[in-house]
Amino acid sequence: MHSTFEKSGNRSQRSKWIIVGSVIGLLGLIAIGVGVGVGVSKHNSSSTSSASSSSSSSGTTDSSTNGTPPQTNPNDPSTFQKDPNLHRSFYGMAYTPAGSQVPTCNNTLEDVIQDIQVMSQLTKRVRLYGADCNQSALVLEAIRQTKVDMQVYIANYPTPDDPTAYTRQRDEIKATIQTYGTDNIAGVTVGNEFMLNYLTDHGATDPNGAIGDQGAALIIADINDTRSVLAGMNLGKTLPVGNSDAGSYYNTKVLEASDYGMANVHPWFANVSAQSASAWTAQFFNETNVQPSALLPNNPKMYIAETGWPTQSSDAGNANNGVSDASETNLQVFLDTFVCQANQNSTGYFYFEFKDEPWKDVQFGGVEGYWGLFHANRTLKNLKIPNCVLD
Ligand SMILES: *[C@@H]1O[C@H](CO)[C@@H](O)[C@H](O)[C@H]1NC(C)=O
Ligand SMILES: *[C@@H]1O[C@H](CO)[C@@H](O)[C@H](O)[C@H]1NC(C)=O
Ligand SMILES: *[C@@H]1O[C@H](CO)[C@@H](O)[C@H](O)[C@H]1NC(C)=O
Ligand SMILES: *[C@@H]1O[C@H](CO)[C@@H](O)[C@H](O)[C@H]1NC(C)=O
Ligand SMILES: *[C@@H]1O[C@H](CO)[C@@H](O)[C@H](O)[C@H]1NC(C)=O
Ligand SMILES: *[C@@H]1O[C@H](CO)[C@@H](O)[C@H](O)[C@H]1NC(C)=O
Ligand SMILES: *[C@@H]1O[C@H](CO)[C@@H](O)[C@H](O)[C@H]1NC(C)=O
Repeated sequence: MHSTFEKSGNRSQRSKWIIVGSVIGLLGLIAIGVGVGVGVSKHNSSSTSSASSSSSSSGTTDSSTNGTPPQTNPNDPSTFQKDPNLHRSFYGMAYTPAGSQVPTCNNTLEDVIQDIQVMSQLTKRVRLYGADCNQSALVLEAIRQTKVDMQVYIANYPTPDDPTAYTRQRDEIKATIQTYGTDNIAGVTVGNEFMLNYLTDHGATDPNGAIGDQGAALIIADINDTRSVLAGMNLGKTLPVGNSDAGSYYNTKVLEASDYGMANVHPWFANVSAQSASAWTAQFFNETNVQPSALLPNNPKMYIAETGWPTQSSDAGNANNGVSDASETNLQVFLDTFVCQANQNSTGYFYFEFKDEPWKDVQFGGVEGYWGLFHANRTLKNLKIPNCVLD
C-alpha cells in the first residue's frame, strides 16, 4: 500500500489517479458531465494498515493525550465524559489506529480506547483498512471496555505483490473472531484499492479490461478464501464479506463476488469546489457505484468508503485543488452540505477521517496528513459538528 501513497503523494503523479470516465462508459451508464466524469480515486489517504512492503518509518503518530476524554473512574474506560460539541451524526468513520503499520506495530490499547471514546460520540460504525498489528482485537477490546454501541467493519488489506500479506491478516482476523465473537463485527472487507494498485502497477486504467480481470481474479480468490474461513467457523451466512476500492476502479466480477462494496469518492482529487463537493460526491457515487451494482444479480450494497476534505497542506503546491483551498472553513462547508443530507438520502458513508495522521505527512507530504476532524492529539479542529443524530 505504501507504493500507493508514494505515487499519489505528489501532485504530478496524483493526476494519474484521476481517471477520466471511461469506466462509466464501459459500465453502460448514462454519460455524466465533464466535471463529474473525472474520477476520483484517491488513494493515499486511504490508509493504512498493512503491507509487508511498508517501510519502517511508518507507524508514527502523535500519541499525546491532550484530547483524552476525562473519566469519572480512571480505571473504568466506560465512565468517560461526553463532549457536548460532538453529535452522533455520522453514518460511519474511516479509522486506522495509530501505529498499525508493519513492521513497527506500536499501536496501544490505551490509545485505541481513547479514540473509541471520542468516535463513539460521532458514529456507531467504524471501518478499518487492514488487520495487521492486532488492530481488530484492539478495537473490539476497546469497544468491550468502553461499553459503547459500535459496529466494526474489520478488514484485510492484501497487496498484489505479496501473498503473505493476505494470509497473515486472515489469520489475525480468525483469531480475533475466536476471541471476541461477531456481536460488534458488521462485515469483513477484503481488499483496499487492490484494483487501483494492480492496474497502476501494470500500466492499465480499465478495471474491466483484460488486465483488470487478471487483478480481479487475485482479489476474488482472497474474498472466496475469507468466505471459506468464515464458513469453517459456522459464520458463513452471518457475516458479510465485502471489498473496498477507488470509486472509479470497480471490477464487475469483484462486485459479483462481494456482499458489499465500499468506494472512495473524493471531491478534492476531482478538483471540485468545496461548495459543490457534496452534490458532486452524491452524484458520482450514485452513477458510478450505486446504479451499476444494483444491476448485478447479487445486488451488493454500496457504501462510500471515504469522503472528506483536507484542512491544510505542508507545501504550497497542494494547498489548493485548483478551485478551493484545503482549510477548516472549507471542511465546514463540506460537513454542512454533506453529512445530514447523506443521512437523509440513506447513504452509507465512512467519513474520512477521524483525526490527522502525522506519519502520512512525514511520508507523503501535501494534504495527506490533514484530513482529520480532529488534530492528531484528538482536539477538535475549528469546526462545528453537524447535529442530525442518526438512530
Ligand atoms: C511508533 O513509533 C514511532 C517511531 O518509530 C513514533 O514516532 C510513534 O510516535 C510511535 N507511535 C505510537 C502510537 O506509539
Ligand atoms: C492539539 O494539536 C493542535 C495542532 O497541532 C494544536 O494546535 C493544539 O494546541 C493541540 N491541543 C492541545 C490541547 O495541546
Ligand atoms: C491483541 O489485543 C488483545 C486486546 O488488547 C490482547 O488481549 C491480545 O493479547 C493481543 N494479541 C497480541 C498478539 O498482541
Ligand atoms: C469464487 O467463488 C465463486 C462462487 O463459489 C466461484 O464461482 C468463483 O470461481 C471463485 N473464484 C475464484 C477466483 O476463486
Ligand atoms: C440516484 O439516481 C437515481 C436515478 O437517477 C435517482 O432516482 C436517485 O434519486 C439518485 N439518488 C441520490 C441519492 O441522488
Ligand atoms: C486538478 O488541478 C491540478 C492543478 O491545480 C492539475 O494538475 C490536475 O491535473 C487537475 N486534475 C483534474 C482531474 O482535473
Ligand atoms: C441527496 O439526494 C438529493 C436528491 O437526489 C441530491 O440532490 C443530493 O445531492 C443528495 N445529497 C447527498 C449528500 O447525498
